Amino acid sequence: MSLFIKKPLDKIIADAGSGETSLKKTLGSGSLIALGIGAIIGAGLFVSTATAAAESAGPSVTIGFILSAIGCALAGLCYAELSSSIPISGSAYTYTYATMGELMAWIIGWDLVLEYAVGAATVGIAWSEYLNNLLVQVFHMPPVPYEWCHSPFEHSLPDALGAVQYGVMNIPALGIVALLSLLLIKGTQESALVNGIIVVTKVSIVLLIIALGWQFIKEENHTPYIPPAGTFTDHMGVQHHFGGLMGILGAAGTVFFAFIGFDAVSTAAQETKNPKKSMPIGILGSLGICTVLYLLFAHVLTGLAPVEFFRTSGKEASVVAAINTFMPGYEWLGKLVTVAILAGFSSVILVMLLGQSRVFFSMSKDGLLPNVFSAIHPKFKTPYKANLIILVIVGLFAAFIPGEVVGHMTSIGTLFAFILVCAAVIILRKTDPDLPRQFKTPLVPFLPIVGIIVCGLMIFGLGMENWLRLIIWLALGLVIYFSYGRKHSKLTNVKDILPKASDFEQQ
Ligand code: ALA
Repeated sequence: MSLFIKKPLDKIIADAGSGETSLKKTLGSGSLIALGIGAIIGAGLFVSTATAAAESAGPSVTIGFILSAIGCALAGLCYAELSSSIPISGSAYTYTYATMGELMAWIIGWDLVLEYAVGAATVGIAWSEYLNNLLVQVFHMPPVPYEWCHSPFEHSLPDALGAVQYGVMNIPALGIVALLSLLLIKGTQESALVNGIIVVTKVSIVLLIIALGWQFIKEENHTPYIPPAGTFTDHMGVQHHFGGLMGILGAAGTVFFAFIGFDAVSTAAQETKNPKKSMPIGILGSLGICTVLYLLFAHVLTGLAPVEFFRTSGKEASVVAAINTFMPGYEWLGKLVTVAILAGFSSVILVMLLGQSRVFFSMSKDGLLPNVFSAIHPKFKTPYKANLIILVIVGLFAAFIPGEVVGHMTSIGTLFAFILVCAAVIILRKTDPDLPRQFKTPLVPFLPIVGIIVCGLMIFGLGMENWLRLIIWLALGLVIYFSYGRKHSKLTNVKDILPKASDFEQQ
């Protein structure tokens, strides 16, 4: 029975400390939209778009973006309801602990490692691809040798002489993760100004590529827009559904990575002046703006180069490769994009590492993970041990697993969390109908059910290999829960001294 023990809301508030319950309500719709865009645009757009076009859908990757955006919007509305019902800023882990019990909370907490830690590794690997561009094109230096910027599971395409290079370890990806983890330990507070500059830079770069690239679109690269259904086997021997409906579903699952991060908007519900009005505007607004930018960007990118380019020479740092090859006279744009992207990626990695340490911190406070995860540095006041352990976990993924694999693991893990969040809204409306909700998802249960279906379809599109990875990950999590978390859970271990329901039955 303790598997479903719920953390009482008053305890959640007490644990959070008075500071968190009295967060200042300062945010309006505009700042929420900016917050969302800052967290959303990153490696997904600059790496996954080309991957999805090459492996799954060709130009119809744009339809994948639309499908993905619909799933995110529906899950986003559910996130907003939960974050405004549970009166502290927190993640899906906290909401689930209060509504669906400890086991589900553990599953979501463990699953969020895929979103945050594995997500940070994915962006770190993308960072490494663009670092090589910076070295070669901006600083005119030799690139990092193939073996030291790729995982041992990767090998290059054969060169002109037929020679193939093999990866050993991705050192730049490990390096950026380590650097940002150390910064986090020191307690970097990304100021609103820095965040604002990064948002403006990212959006300007995307707009520049769309505006300048439009004239270089070649109709033949867009024909047929939806390639006929078939398969494509990549140079590593992995077979993908290409074209048709399955191709679009696969692309939706891949580019879903580009939308991850908007849940940051919903967690700011408590700091929002008028959440009823501003939350849907913030979530749907930032998603809407990004979706339009993504559609136009993907339309231009797939129009610049044939799909074959993104499977071969334009496979890495694809956006800059396409600009340099198919937009003569715009090499300066390639350089600008490289510098801006490296900065943009760094801020996304920082936010993800921060999110991961917060989730581990809460799980440790609840006794589900060892105390070491909530140890605070005496001087910097940050969970430094958690940050160091996360550095090791993220570093291992970044150094030794291919970017595409970690990217798909991030997407499938986050999609699974979205499904649980949609389900939590339906359950909570039944079990706790009177709970004050500052924001209510419209048309419950219809919209959350559609959200579950759309996210489920994207999981389906990611294919059997990724389903297996998710199942293995969750199974590993359950082993840890039953061998550690369950025995050390603070709630489970106080239950015997708490009054039982039967004690009140006579009153
Ligand atoms: N959406 C973020 C990115 O694309 C995670 O990098």
